[in-house]
Amino acid sequence: MRPLTLAVPKGRILKVLVPLLERANLSAECLLLDDRRLVRESPDGSIRYLLLKPDDVPTYVEYGSADLGVVGRDTLLERNYELYQPVDLRVGLCRMVVAAPSGASVPAVPRVATKYPRIAQKYFAARGVQAEVIFVQGSVELAPVTGLSDLIVDLVETGSTLRENGLEQREVICSISSLLVANRALFKLHHDRIAPIVSGLRSAVEATLSPTAQ
Ligand code: PRP
Repeated sequence: MRPLTLAVPKGRILKVLVPLLERANLSAECLLLDDRRLVRESPDGSIRYLLLKPDDVPTYVEYGSADLGVVGRDTLLERNYELYQPVDLRVGLCRMVVAAPSGASVPAVPRVATKYPRIAQKYFAARGVQAEVIFVQGSVELAPVTGLSDLIVDLVETGSTLRENGLEQREVICSISSLLVANRALFKLHHDRIAPIVSGLRSAVEATLSPTAQ
């Protein structure tokens, strides 16, 4: 029987994702090994992990190279994917915000730097603000500091990056967390094997949220 394939994002999210997967009875320790292998397999061979750049996870799942994946809601909101989204994993919690230099006034037609042009465009359009959205790849907080933009739309977790660059949160666009996503056709095809993973993860998330979980 072929292993089920779960695409996961490389990086800091793994530290919180691995314990959650383990709580759902998925052997995931192999994800924490410090080597350069991009494919890892559980010791019993039942699950295979693909380690990907976060933005590539939905692509692998949509095309069926992975049955399942873990994706931030930010990525799902920014682009259109045909994916089933069975579980909000409640990890990678942060918020999408509009921020500006502390105390600065904002022009009627602001320039907005962001890695999320679609989310930003939609947010300002819904408020009747004719924003000029400028796409940048990262270090978004630098844009208003250097005069590239008046505002940014970006993710905030602790708020340190905003603070340490003289910026302040002005509006919250939405809450963000990581979701379990599934390829729609493979979900039906392998339902007998995927359904227990989905329910295991649902229970693991609920146990984490419950005050008696520890
Ligand atoms: C993310 C995000 C913010 C920062 C927020 O950037 O884009 O810059 O983290 O975290 P904080 O509120 O806890 O300071 P990331 O570190 O992923 O790098 P990037 O700027 O290159 O996207």
